[in-house]
Amino acid sequence: MKKRYIMSPGPVEIPPTVLAAAALPIIHHRTPEYRKAFAEVNEGLKYVFQTKNDILIFPAAGTGGMESAVVNLLSPGDKIIVAAIGQFGERWAKIAEAYGVNVIKIFSEWGEGSDPKKIEEALTANKDVKAVYTTLSETSTGVENDIESIARVVSGTPAVLVVDAVSGMGAIKFKTDDWRVDVVVVGAQKGMMIPPGLAMVALSDKAKALLPASKINKYYFSYDQALKALLKDKLPDTPYTSSVSLVLQLRESIRLIKEEGLENVWARHAKVAAAVRAGIKALGLKAFAKGTPSNAVTSVWTPEGLDGDALNKKIRDDYGITMAGGQGKMKGKMFRVGHLGYTDRFDAVVAVAAVEMALNELGTKIETGKGVKAVIEELLKK
Ligand SMILES: Cc1ncc(COP(=O)(O)O)c(C=O)c1O
Repeated sequence: MKKRYIMSPGPVEIPPTVLAAAALPIIHHRTPEYRKAFAEVNEGLKYVFQTKNDILIFPAAGTGGMESAVVNLLSPGDKIIVAAIGQFGERWAKIAEAYGVNVIKIFSEWGEGSDPKKIEEALTANKDVKAVYTTLSETSTGVENDIESIARVVSGTPAVLVVDAVSGMGAIKFKTDDWRVDVVVVGAQKGMMIPPGLAMVALSDKAKALLPASKINKYYFSYDQALKALLKDKLPDTPYTSSVSLVLQLRESIRLIKEEGLENVWARHAKVAAAVRAGIKALGLKAFAKGTPSNAVTSVWTPEGLDGDALNKKIRDDYGITMAGGQGKMKGKMFRVGHLGYTDRFDAVVAVAAVEMALNELGTKIETGKGVKAVIEELLKK
């Protein structure tokens, strides 16, 4: 028998009580019982997102949530800024261009964060920009973007700020209202600790004001329809069949986040991430992130002469631990250790031990125990 671990940046391991919630009987989605549960989830999400804004929940992948934030806010020919710091940020541009939107691309070199000054300059030079799209935790590069500074720049202009927090929410400090972020897109299978299949979108009044002018065709992802159902009476509803089981699981995962306290959730992620980074460094490996490293995922250059995919394959197939390889142009050159959601200190030990063992087995001689020692020393720091 092989004990399996998921240490990818999503999907993540699911806490046992959240798994158990999937086994609850299906409640019909048009009953008061379900709508009460849905209301509880809606309120709970506001705590996790740190917002008073309405939050829409769509049965969809995170990318569905991203697409919804393009088709509802914009019209063909509109101008937007995409401040991308990797593969997922660049996806914003691809989605927008698919709908005929005019994209000003402020693409950072992979490994770096966005420069708020460049966004400010582009906004000053282009007063007609409707929205700025960016990413909180760029999963492809393991970099955290400085959303607070970007929001400071954007909130003083007519443009709305749309943040892909698909892999950052529930892992990394994020304050929707305090920072004045207009649209936040979140996925299920990451910091929210449920199986894949839900996209959540928070909408400010500034963002809602763009809805009537939007001329991109839409139906399923219509915010108008979703808001009508959400707000039509005391208890929120959805226009189409809700993902009942996933929502019940989300209710449980939010309960766990509340029980721990959001600040403690962020601190736990910071602790595990610091330990993984210390272990990787002690192994003599090079971190990919030059900007602020993400507390959700650590990205590492594969040592010279070794295929990153081979390393991942060994760790997955021989040790039973699923990490992630490089994406896009980094395929084969990088491996990524996910440490978000249902993750704790000893996951850092397992992850670094696996990397250390695999490197040795694949011929990169490393003094055994060096990485794990550094992990334990980091974990022991107060
Ligand atoms: C930052 C980020 N954005 C968007 C996505 C896309 O989410 P999904 O694969 O659920 O469509 C991911 C998934 O890895 C992600 O990490």
